[in-house]
Amino acid sequence: MYDPRLPAVIADPYPTFRRLQDADPVHTSAILGGRVVTRFADVRACLTDERLSSDRITPFVRHRAGRHDAPLIETLGRTLGLWAVFTDPPKHTRLRALMNRTFTTRAVERLRPRIEAIVDELLARVRDQGQMDLIRDFAYPLPIAVIGDMLGVPAADRPTLKEWSDELATFVGSAVATPDKYERAAKGLVQMQDYFRGLLDARRRAPKDDLTSALASAQAQDPTYADDELVATAILLLFAGHETTTNLIGNGMLALLRHPDQLARLRANPALAGSAVEEMLRYDGPSGAMVRVAAAEDAIDGATIAPGERLFLMINAANRDPRQFEEPDRFDVTRDPNRHIAFGAGIHFCVGAPLARLEAQIAVPALARLPGLALASDRLPWLDSLVFRGVTALPVDFS
Ligand code: HEM
Repeated sequence: MYDPRLPAVIADPYPTFRRLQDADPVHTSAILGGRVVTRFADVRACLTDERLSSDRITPFVRHRAGRHDAPLIETLGRTLGLWAVFTDPPKHTRLRALMNRTFTTRAVERLRPRIEAIVDELLARVRDQGQMDLIRDFAYPLPIAVIGDMLGVPAADRPTLKEWSDELATFVGSAVATPDKYERAAKGLVQMQDYFRGLLDARRRAPKDDLTSALASAQAQDPTYADDELVATAILLLFAGHETTTNLIGNGMLALLRHPDQLARLRANPALAGSAVEEMLRYDGPSGAMVRVAAAEDAIDGATIAPGERLFLMINAANRDPRQFEEPDRFDVTRDPNRHIAFGAGIHFCVGAPLARLEAQIAVPALARLPGLALASDRLPWLDSLVFRGVTALPVDFS
């Protein structure tokens, strides 16, 4: 009924999601080893249910103990176990506090001129070519430049960090067809840790106006924060700060280009950028599945959940649920109301939502202004991942 490995399902999972919502909303998946939850109300309820654990790292490390790759998994587990997104209170509460102050809408709004400058610079590079790979030339370099700036990572180091982060993504993104993912992910992670330990030391000696310095100062005020927690948080921000935003811009522009009437509306009225970005998040957002683990026996929609069972909360499926959205398969840049859950819900609600929104609200109208912008091919390569939804290339023409 649901095989997330099939290329046709990866390219367009929505018909399958609809069948699951109607016939089997808490589907038991042997392929994924857990339950696949697809209705909006159920996904939202699970995201805000604090009895469900976000810590899928500890059970995974335990499960792999004794196997040949156990040392690699332990290496991954040690740092990922300090990522807010994989922890429960009280551990989550203190890790989240490290990030909360820095990502307020007001603090992020200050970045606007810098983001506009990066967008202009990226478009200036391709303007005379009449074509580009929208991922490689734009959606990929933009978010890494922005979060790199925020963290204080020098421009010259960003491509290397991006490579390490992409290696880590094979594991965090639950790649289904990457056999050596643990080895690659652990290598990427260890290199990022060394890098951020060095950067943190440098900022302790000479603080600057950046997030790494803010992490160092949080520790100075509350010495119970360990170096490993600061390093893990910096890596989480780097990682979460770009993998998803690339895909928001990529999937969003793909939807816009496949709906020329909506592109024309946005061009005619750039003030629609805000609602257009919300619709991009809803219609084909960058987040596939969020995972939770049941601590005790539970029931969802009449289905019994056993203790220790994994729940795959399908965000994109929920955001197309006809029980929640009128004509959910229609892409409408003026949709209102549009209460999607692309950024999650509850205590793990995305810290970076204001930043992701701002980047996309600047990027999308700038791209839409390129005259004659159109898809150069409709056969697109999709990411091998359950967690991240996005194309790896998006060739476009313009005049
Ligand atoms: C369009 C882009 C983005 C999307 C769709 C997105 C989506 C999400 C979702 C669904 C969650 C909840 C995870 C869960 O409940 O298990 C989350 C958490 C998180 N996001 Fe984002 N995100 C985006 C961009 C960003 C950016 C730009 C940053 C940072 C600069 C960021 C940082 C985080 C962090 C740190 C968490 C963990 C929060 C916690 O566990 O308390 N995200 N994101």
